[in-house]
Amino acid sequence: MTKPHDPIRPSTVPDDDNCNNSSNDHFNAVLAARMSRRSMLRGGFATAASAVMGSMGLSACGGSGDPDPVAVPPALPVPAEKLLAFAAVPKSLADTVAVPAGYTATILYALGDPLRAATPAYKNDGTDTDFDNRAGDHHDGMEYFGLTASGTPSASGAERGVLAMNHEATTAERLASHFLHADGGTATLPRPAAEVDKEVAVYGISVIEVRKTGSTWSSIVDSTFNRRLTPLSDVEISGPARGNALLVTQYSPAGTRTRGTLSNCGGGRTPWGTYLSGEENWAGYFVRGAADDAARGNDKSVVALRRYGRRQGATSRHGWETGGADDRYQRWDISRKGASANGSDDYRNEMNGQGYIIEVDPYDKTRTARKRSALGRFAHESGAFGNPVAGQPLAVYMGDDSRNEYIYKFVSKEVWNASDATPADRIGTGDKYLDSGTLYVARVNADGTGQWIELSLANPLISAYTAYPFADLADVLVNARLAADAAGATRMDRPEWCSVHPVTGEIYYTLTNNSNRSVDPGGAPALLPDAGNPRVYTDMQGAAAQNGNPNGHIIRFKEGTGGSAATSFTWDVYLFAAESGADATRVNLSGLTADQDHSSPDGLAFVKSTGICWIQTDDDAYADVTNNMMLAAVPGQVGDGARTTLAYDKADGSKLDVDTFVGKKPTADTLKRFLVGPANSEITGITETPDGKALFINIMHPGLYTARADIGDPARYKSQWPANAGYGAGKRPRSATIVITKNDGGRIGT
Ligand code: FEO
Ligand code: CA
Ligand code: CA
Repeated sequence: MTKPHDPIRPSTVPDDDNCNNSSNDHFNAVLAARMSRRSMLRGGFATAASAVMGSMGLSACGGSGDPDPVAVPPALPVPAEKLLAFAAVPKSLADTVAVPAGYTATILYALGDPLRAATPAYKNDGTDTDFDNRAGDHHDGMEYFGLTASGTPSASGAERGVLAMNHEATTAERLASHFLHADGGTATLPRPAAEVDKEVAVYGISVIEVRKTGSTWSSIVDSTFNRRLTPLSDVEISGPARGNALLVTQYSPAGTRTRGTLSNCGGGRTPWGTYLSGEENWAGYFVRGAADDAARGNDKSVVALRRYGRRQGATSRHGWETGGADDRYQRWDISRKGASANGSDDYRNEMNGQGYIIEVDPYDKTRTARKRSALGRFAHESGAFGNPVAGQPLAVYMGDDSRNEYIYKFVSKEVWNASDATPADRIGTGDKYLDSGTLYVARVNADGTGQWIELSLANPLISAYTAYPFADLADVLVNARLAADAAGATRMDRPEWCSVHPVTGEIYYTLTNNSNRSVDPGGAPALLPDAGNPRVYTDMQGAAAQNGNPNGHIIRFKEGTGGSAATSFTWDVYLFAAESGADATRVNLSGLTADQDHSSPDGLAFVKSTGICWIQTDDDAYADVTNNMMLAAVPGQVGDGARTTLAYDKADGSKLDVDTFVGKKPTADTLKRFLVGPANSEITGITETPDGKALFINIMHPGLYTARADIGDPARYKSQWPANAGYGAGKRPRSATIVITKNDGGRIGT
């Protein structure tokens, strides 16, 4: 979902407006400001770096007095082709998809496209129905799963496969998703049931077969693989929270099931060939009564609901709870209404059924999807596995996308058995690796090190936490944000996607932006800058000032001893997003050129074929100059750059120095803009065929800021893509999957 960028985004655009107002001390900020450069080097980074970098070696570089540690990169596989040999695509406000010369972008699967031959073609005029059998809206995270020519699972299948993708949200100015309804829909309460039914069904997940015929890719209507999950699909709760009191609802008095998946954002793939989907901004869909705190007896659930963004009196994004008396509408009202002690007669616990990584078998639509509660409950983006090593546990890296939220890691109890890469029972293999293990949260220290802190009752900071007394492990996982508060984790500038370098194993996290950073914070929710979130500045968009860290950055971690199970790491900032003309000492710290500059990195994934790291933006801060984009990057590794001090002047005249670690600056050979999308769209979803010759991405919500009042006048739509590219009927803009191919048949990004 497009994210809020405070001064610019209209308040009518619903978004993920949570932020971490918890009161845990932000000691990293204090440390960062206090620690001198010399003590940082001697006491911290150099020692830690030499301990964990081991064979990479360290060498000194001169110039600023203290020798900065510089790691020598290990040998990476060198593809036969020159990477990033394409001509950079210029920034643009055009309502089109622009790719480099020699490449072609083809539209494959847009909002409303049928999954069955029996479903009528999409008229795109607001009269279409049957969205359970059509492409959903706001295509987001996505993975490709190969098939053989005869349609059996194949890790190398490059000409036939299935795409599993998320449908995160729908375009709405207020309440109604206006492009779905002929007249723009009902923007007042109550909402008509027919409108609600349509809107609910465009959320969730699609599985759609795609095939290459000659040199052309297309989606296959009526494939037996085609499948939709929606917020009404029956889903299993799996892992430690299964059957827990926190999951008891009228729908599932045993607390073992829930209805559907919601706000599916980033994706991921398991080493055994299933799809992972992260449930992100689900809280805003539930309504909570104005007197619900008292109705709950002011019990601890009130603390949890507040921490997860649902104070009493909170209203819902679409008003789906007003669709009628039927249970499928009433489940959106999480007020305590029933007389039962455990919640088996109402939906007071319904929100505890959302906020997970959900696992889907893309090859078998008869298998019920499972929510993996061991991986914690928060606003999930992607789930990225560390590179699997036989005999070692598996690690899954995750982020919680809200201002000042945390970075997490799950470590499996079972160690990896390579024969599980092609199991007969994929969901059962998920049970084996994802239902038992340990969840950790990251503390990012000012000296270039970090810790993974265990989230369980074995951690005394959690078992003794007075603000929220945890009952059991399920309580810790379902309320992972509260446990992370207790554990003293580091609040980050909005963690979005993460991905693991296929060779070095280092973990890259986009931190998309944060308006809640200030050198004069004046109390929560604003925070001082710290080493891992070091920038505070003002960027202008016309006359509007954008404060904090408006452009975002990408942090990367290198695990310490123990690999995937390590409890310590080192880190640096791979890349600071910025405008190329911004102050090089405070803002454009990575020295980005006009061919590289961007804002609000969000989607990020390494592909295995070339090792290219694709970076996608979801931005409003640079929207006066360019639409959102995708860049190709060839990063180095943690420690390849230099330590830098950012010197701030506080309002009272005192100084604040914040030291950070800036990765080696990119060159024209290591970072280049590859694509710019249509107006008001977000670029997201990254997946390739195993041969690297087709790259699938998603164009989310073109025309997002179209006013509902303009629904009858296509000339006033903020975008007419993909109709203006010759795809489909009508002129209403549609989210869509595209495939990018190289005209000479080569690999993408070369
Ligand atoms: Fe769905 Fe945080 O982007
Ligand atoms: Ca600007
Ligand atoms: Ca995202």
